[in-house]
This record gives sequence, structure tokens and C-alpha cells, in this order.
Amino acid sequence: MTTTSGIAIVTGASSGIGAEIARQLSARGQPVLAIGRRAHRLEELSARARAASHAPIHPLELDVTAEGAGVLVRDRARELGGAAWLVNNAGTTRFGPFLEGDPAEQAMLVRLNCESVVALCAAIVPDLVTRGGGRVLNVASLAAFQPTPGHAVYGATKAFVLSFSESLAVELDRTGVTVTALCPGPVTTEIFDAGAPGVPRKKPPFEISAEECAAYGIAAADRGDVVAVPTALSKATAQLSRVLPRAVIRRLSARIGLSILGYGGLPRGARG
Ligand SMILES: NC(=O)c1ccc[n+]([C@@H]2O[C@H](COP(=O)([O-])OP(=O)(O)OC[C@H]3O[C@@H](n4cnc5c(N)ncnc54)[C@H](OP(=O)(O)O)[C@@H]3O)[C@@H](O)[C@H]2O)c1
Repeated sequence: MTTTSGIAIVTGASSGIGAEIARQLSARGQPVLAIGRRAHRLEELSARARAASHAPIHPLELDVTAEGAGVLVRDRARELGGAAWLVNNAGTTRFGPFLEGDPAEQAMLVRLNCESVVALCAAIVPDLVTRGGGRVLNVASLAAFQPTPGHAVYGATKAFVLSFSESLAVELDRTGVTVTALCPGPVTTEIFDAGAPGVPRKKPPFEISAEECAAYGIAAADRGDVVAVPTALSKATAQLSRVLPRAVIRRLSARIGLSILGYGGLPRGARG
């Protein structure tokens, strides 16, 4: 079985990095099951693929945190011929000090960024193993490499995705299924509107486009890379987080983390 002969499941395909991953896979001939809650966005993506005579993009309006979402996606992928790729991209963030946040939103972040990734892997990866090969691409973040005061839950969820992906990659050795954790620094998408509604942001000069990020992630998954960090600056940042003492890293992250993302004015908490 080749990894291009089946369906590519892409969560969070209605905007940003996920929409680009779906578009690029479809453009190179891979049929896509595009998942998100905003059905009209998925329909637009699907119509654009049709107009360009690319491989079909099948929209699936779904909240991936809903009970039974994994099984529903698996059954739909089977109807469409079976999955070859699983891209766990759906995710969001919340900026601001933890104690000022809404506990329900923080719990939702964990459900979306962590639990849905586990549930979808549990539902889909057995089918990839049975078919003798496939690609899992989990979208983590550069935030996975260090604590992130000022958006504490987000960084922790992405550290979870990185750790989970690395473990799963090793467990799936010799099955033909590869697992890649994509760990981008800032990417121009709608996530910043969701994470800090109405807060002005100065886009950093090293921010990359969703198109670049998606292309980098797809190429890394094609190669079977386990950890994929786009751009030299982000690679250096990830490396620094591995070699510096944790106490230094968490202080440094508190001091410059939000400014690097373009939120110089946002508070990080009582000691920020
Ligand atoms: N942009 C960055 O700087 C950056 C950097 C590192 C990592 N990332 C990661 O990249 C991934 C994609 O984010 P993005 O930057 O492309 O942001 P985005 O444009 O806001 O896209 C987020 C996607 O997730 C979907 N989503 C959110 N909640 C969902 C739910 N409950 N069920 C199904 N889909 C849901 C959204 O679709 P609906 O609203 O239609 O459901 C949307 O398609 C995230 O995991 C994010 O953490 C982003």
C-alpha cells in the first residue's frame, strides 16, 4: 500500500495550517476528508479543489472533541476507501495569566489539543497498521519545548502532543506507519484572533505563512521525520530549550515569550 492511495484525514481543515495541508495534499492527488465545525469553509475548500481538478476534498462538519468523534471519522474514512494519512491539526490557544482565564475554556483546550489527538489516533492508527502503512502528522508547536508563562495551558498541551507523538513513533517502528510532530513557531493564521480577541499584535518578522508551514510538515511526514521544526531560528530555539537549565528556560520564556509572538503588552501573571 502506498501512502498516497488512501484518504488523508485532516482535522481543523477550515482555516490556517489545516486548510493548507488539505489543499496541498489534494493538489498532489490525495483525496482528503476535511474536518472542522465551520461547514461553509470546508465546502469552499472542496469547491476550489473541484474547480482546479484536484483530488476530491470531502467535507465533514464535526467537533472533534465530541463523544464518539474518533469512531465517526474512522467509519467515514472507511466509506471513502480507507485512511492513509491522519493529520491531527485542529487546535486553539488562549493568552493571558492562568488565574485570569475561564476554567471551562482551559478544560476545552486540553480536550481539543490533547484528548482529541489521542482519540483520533486510537480510532485511525489500527487501520493504518492493518493496511501496512500510513502517515500520522500531529501539529504540535515550538511551544512544546519549553513552559509558556502567559499561555500556560497551551504550551503544556503541545508538550503533550510532542511527547505522545515521539512515543507512538517508536511503538509503530516496523509497521510502515510513521508519526511526525510538526513544531512550528509563529504562523500567520486566525489562531491569534481566537487566542487573544481584540488584543493588538505586532506580527514578528520571522513569522511564516500557513502555506510554508503546511509544505514543510507534509515533506517531513513524507520522509517519516519524527520531529519537524520549520526554520533555522525555530530549530535553534528548540535546541536551546534542550540544553539550558529548566530554571533559565522558564524565566527566559516568561520574559520574552509573549513579545516574540507580538504581544509585548500582555500580562504573564503576577510575577510576569
Ligand atoms: N499559527 C501558529 O502560530 C501556530 C504555531 C504552532 C502551532 N500551531 C498549531 O497549528 C494548528 C492549527 O492552527 P492554526 O494556526 O492553523 O489556527 P486556525 O486558523 O485558528 O485553525 C484552527 C483549526 O482548528 C479547527 N478547530 C478548532 N476547534 C475545533 C473543534 N472543536 N473541532 C474541530 N475542529 C476544530 C478550526 O475549525 P472550526 O473553527 O471550523 O472548527 C480551524 O480549522 C493548531 O493545533 C495550533 O496549535 C499554530
